[in-house]
Amino acid sequence: ALPKKVKIVEVGPRDGLQNEKSIVPAQLKIRLIDMLSESGLPVIEATSFVSPKWVPQMADHAEVLKGIRKLPGIRYPVLTPNLTGFQAAVSSGAEEVAIFGAASELFTKKNINCSIDESLERFEKVLSAARAADIPVRGYVSCVLGCPYEGKISPAKVAEVAKKLYSMGCYEISLGDTIGVGTLVGMKDMLSAVMKEVPVSALAVHCHDTYGQALTNILMALQMGVTVVDSSVAGLGGCPYAKGASGNVATEDLLYMLNGLGIETGSFCSSEFLSSGRLPPRKIDPQV
Ligand code: HMG
Ligand code: MG
Repeated sequence: ALPKKVKIVEVGPRDGLQNEKSIVPAQLKIRLIDMLSESGLPVIEATSFVSPKWVPQMADHAEVLKGIRKLPGIRYPVLTPNLTGFQAAVSSGAEEVAIFGAASELFTKKNINCSIDESLERFEKVLSAARAADIPVRGYVSCVLGCPYEGKISPAKVAEVAKKLYSMGCYEISLGDTIGVGTLVGMKDMLSAVMKEVPVSALAVHCHDTYGQALTNILMALQMGVTVVDSSVAGLGGCPYAKGASGNVATEDLLYMLNGLGIETGSFCSSEFLSSGRLPPRKIDPQV
């Protein structure tokens, strides 16, 4: 059976733009996020508070987060790898954050410069500061269907890391097929293992689309009870520390599939959205 409703988490402004060769000006990022807000997406990952030496594309995080027009009812989480990032995010007005771990030691080392165990210690600090500030934390697990450095990753390892992040207090665990190498059977086996440790209502899937398998894999996840799906406008995306990985599943393609299945998302129903009163009408300035 398929769910009646799916929550789309738009990751384009973060996962998409972190990977662009040229640096997109902050004003354009702000404009993109504002337009995404107007499309009715419930969650838009806005930027990441990571080191500008590691990911220069996200160096304008504070400007972007402060510059966007936050619409009521829409959440704008940001990535925070450690306490430094968390504190900077909160001073820039973040009301929700995401930590990002992985089920691969080598990827963790390349991506955030520590071991899995060390990453969990850092996340613990972020979670306790977040708890004190009443800020919800999402948790990512990368490389759930394969790693650019280690190759195969066992479902048991994914389940172990997902369980740790969930028991540390992450309200939702997003399972990342970072390099888009998963196929149906892999998704089914991995999810079966994770669902034994984390309630399916707290799981999301995050599929990069290197081999065109993202929608198929997402459909499998929906059939298994997952109701949260990450996607990226125009299929932007990739990870600077996962060479060869292509973009995420495109939000518009995901939406097309979900609409076709009669699954409610709340997105892109412009007339309903406008009449909901969530969006004050305004003129779009084509100059920006
Ligand atoms: P490090 O070099 O080990 O950090 O980097 P450190 O703690 O040793 O500190 C070194 C310097 O960095 C210090 O400054 C710190 O203050 C500074 P210095 O004294 O040299 O002037 N620093 C920071 N600056 C800004 N923001 C911070 C921060 N922390 C320390 N938060 C670190 C460790 C985690 C910071 C680094 O490795 C990093 O920024 N990595 C980010 C990598 C990244 O953004 N990857 C892409 C996102 S993950 C992804 O795309 C996958 C996902 O989409 C899911 C999927 O697809 O699977 C989520
Ligand atoms: Mg990603």
